[in-house]
Amino acid sequence: MSPPERIGFVGTGSITDAMVRGLLAEPAAVPQVVVSQRGADISAKLASDFPQVSVSADNQAIIDDCDTVVLAIRPQVAEDVIRPLRFRDGQRVISVIAATDRLALTEWVGAKVHLTQAIPLPFVARRKGVTAVFPADAGTAAIFDVLGNAVECETKAEYDLLAAASSLMATYFGIMYRTTEWLVDNGLPEEKGRAYLAPLFAGLSEAAILAGPKIDFIEISREFATKGGLNEQVFRDFDQKGGTGALTRALDSVLKRITDR
Ligand SMILES: NC(=O)c1ccc[n+]([C@@H]2O[C@H](COP(=O)([O-])OP(=O)(O)OC[C@H]3O[C@@H](n4cnc5c(N)ncnc54)[C@H](OP(=O)(O)O)[C@@H]3O)[C@@H](O)[C@H]2O)c1
Repeated sequence: MSPPERIGFVGTGSITDAMVRGLLAEPAAVPQVVVSQRGADISAKLASDFPQVSVSADNQAIIDDCDTVVLAIRPQVAEDVIRPLRFRDGQRVISVIAATDRLALTEWVGAKVHLTQAIPLPFVARRKGVTAVFPADAGTAAIFDVLGNAVECETKAEYDLLAAASSLMATYFGIMYRTTEWLVDNGLPEEKGRAYLAPLFAGLSEAAILAGPKIDFIEISREFATKGGLNEQVFRDFDQKGGTGALTRALDSVLKRITDR
């Protein structure tokens, strides 16, 4: 299935900016994009950067003009923004609104739309974002496959688990930050630490992708750990001295927060 002819966005903040830039990078994947005038700075910049972008101050006009509509407002205002809008039966509606229950969204939308939820990440701007999508929907997957790749979830439980996993982003950079701090405390200039760690982590992520889905991460970990060597020692310490426990507890707790709402 191909991406839609005309896609509309209600809420033009950071994630809409990233999605539109990804969709319209050369070669553009969609011919026309309509974004809400709010937020004003981002919508104006998108319209000046891309001739395919038009801006509308009327959310209802965006719904009326587009077969596929992305809802990209903050959860706090979602009900007030969505409830008054009139959607069409059969319309494709993609909500990227975090922390919002599907049943509530369905009720606010009202019509019998194809409603999917998705968790795009900022890297969609470079067409390198992996996006969890629920439920599986070919039209929604076609959009996020352009922006990187879509992982379609069969159940809400799967979707919630990927939402929990997506909460590791700050920790990834946090590990780099704490390691840089440690290097600096031990006498290395900070810029050298940063210059070393970013490519090190990038190379490791690339190795995990190149290994493909059939090779367990623990096998890759062993490949990078000589018997009795430094890597083996640090992972054993991490695993046995509280690192794995802290990680698992943090994921359990974030999953609980996701499923309790
Ligand atoms: N940023 C991410 O990486 C990311 C990733 C996945 C999901 N999400 C989710 O996506 C949603 C948007 O996130 P964001 O980071 O893009 O937030 P954001 O930068 O705050 O953007 C939200 C936009 O919604 C606009 N808005 C508020 N009321 C509106 C209305 N009545 N009609 C139309 N637009 C209205 C705001 O405009 P004003 O500036 O004029 O108030 C603002 O530009 C959130 O639910 C968030 O959880 C974000």
